[in-house]
Amino acid sequence: MPGRIIVAGIPGVGKTTILQELERISRERKVPLRVVNFGSVMNDLFKEKEGKQLHRDHMRRQEIELQSRIQLQAARQIRRMPQRETLVVDTHMFVRTKDGVWPGTPQKVLEVIAPDTIILIEAKPEEIARRRHQDTTRERETSTVADATADLEWSRYMASANAVIAGIPIQIITNNEGKQHQAAEDLLRMIEKSEE
Ligand code: AP5
Repeated sequence: MPGRIIVAGIPGVGKTTILQELERISRERKVPLRVVNFGSVMNDLFKEKEGKQLHRDHMRRQEIELQSRIQLQAARQIRRMPQRETLVVDTHMFVRTKDGVWPGTPQKVLEVIAPDTIILIEAKPEEIARRRHQDTTRERETSTVADATADLEWSRYMASANAVIAGIPIQIITNNEGKQHQAAEDLLRMIEKSEE
């Protein structure tokens, strides 16, 4: 049975860029792999179940109780997807909500997804802050170097909690400036190794 892998990274780290590159190279090399964006599944559920058509950067501003319900539904929907290839779940270790830092994969979500490993994508805080500034397509609440540093720390804290609960390893990939292809290659190598 192909595995499930959580790939997480703080906003602006370049997660989407790397995962798009990963999809491209895995297609080229015929590596059976599918990437699912947790936020997109949630966004569709907000519309289908709650009749709310939200900008993806507005989901985290909803009431926690509602986000939590949709979050669990998203996890269940992902788990029900037919799995013929390695499933890469593109998500966040935490989400900054108006009530505080909230786990992206609380225990109930983690148990549904049942990942084999967690891979964190990181970058230098200065580069993350710059990418956040330059990316005008998104609404980022935080964009200083100090914000990015704090977010990187939160991501590792939450990943540690997940790893302890699920008894799974954490690996880290660095998305260096201009090196998104290299980061995608590193990611593919890790995924293939975890499937051995
Ligand atoms: P999601 O869409 O995953 O949000 P995001 O991480 O904020 O956005 P991106 O994925 O676009 O950011 P990114 O870091 O991947 O950056 P990008 O590749 O664009 O999630 C949306 C929402 O869903 C969340 O806010 C939350 O509400 C919800 N959600 C998700 N999971 C959840 C969960 N488990 N529970 C509850 N809610 C959840 O890159 C940024 C810029 O950097 C680009 O301009 C790019 O060109 C540039 N760049 C990238 N790499 C490099 C490089 N190596 N060198 C130079 N520039 C680079």
